[in-house]
Amino acid sequence: MIIAPSILSADFSHLSRDIDAVASAGAQWIHVDVMDGVFVPNITIGPVVVKSIRKVTERFLDCHLMITHPEHYIDDFVNAGADGITVHVEASPHLHRTLSLIREKGVKSGVALNPSTSLSTLEYCLDVVDLVLVMSVNPGFGGQAFIDAVIPKIAAAKEMISGRPIQLQVDGGIHKGNIAALARMGVDNVVAGSSIFQSGDPGKTVKEMFDIVSSLSL
Ligand code: DX5
Ligand code: ZN
Repeated sequence: MIIAPSILSADFSHLSRDIDAVASAGAQWIHVDVMDGVFVPNITIGPVVVKSIRKVTERFLDCHLMITHPEHYIDDFVNAGADGITVHVEASPHLHRTLSLIREKGVKSGVALNPSTSLSTLEYCLDVVDLVLVMSVNPGFGGQAFIDAVIPKIAAAKEMISGRPIQLQVDGGIHKGNIAALARMGVDNVVAGSSIFQSGDPGKTVKEMFDIVSSLSL
């Protein structure tokens, strides 16, 4: 399983230190939550910060765009050093075109669904998707509780992408207490913010999460 710590809950005055802590503990990806105050009721960071992070880590930079018109910003994130760009289906009327554009730029294409959005919205674009992100909180803030109602959707998403080279990522409310259940469902990639960066020892928490997953007989 890939663990992608979300820097939304890191200390922005010590981003490099916090990224080093989770990367040294084995986290393969760094998740960057980009919010515009329009698609979601919060404003965070953009390509300028991605460019700075790129200089301090070799890890896969996973940019989760919670913004309207994500297609206008693909070049900016690619040029800043993103390795993967995930757009929301709810913000992308021309989803197939946007995902194709991301791939054409040489980075991994991801598509995210809010908790209430149906999986059927993905049905006709799986040929241009590298990652499906099932949101387990309503996007906008870190520290929210996992919405159990999405569990059947996670199972259905796994089935939908079966046999295709597509990763299944889940984001929101993930911690040591529920990561095992997600691993058992075949989730490939989990995003966790507050449970890692607000634990007092982010590196130790990442290692404990890996230990939980590796102790399972899957
Ligand atoms: C929510 C973001 C998440 C968030 C996760 O809008 O997309 O990536 O940072 O934070 P936690 O793990 O605290 O729910
Ligand atoms: Zn996210």
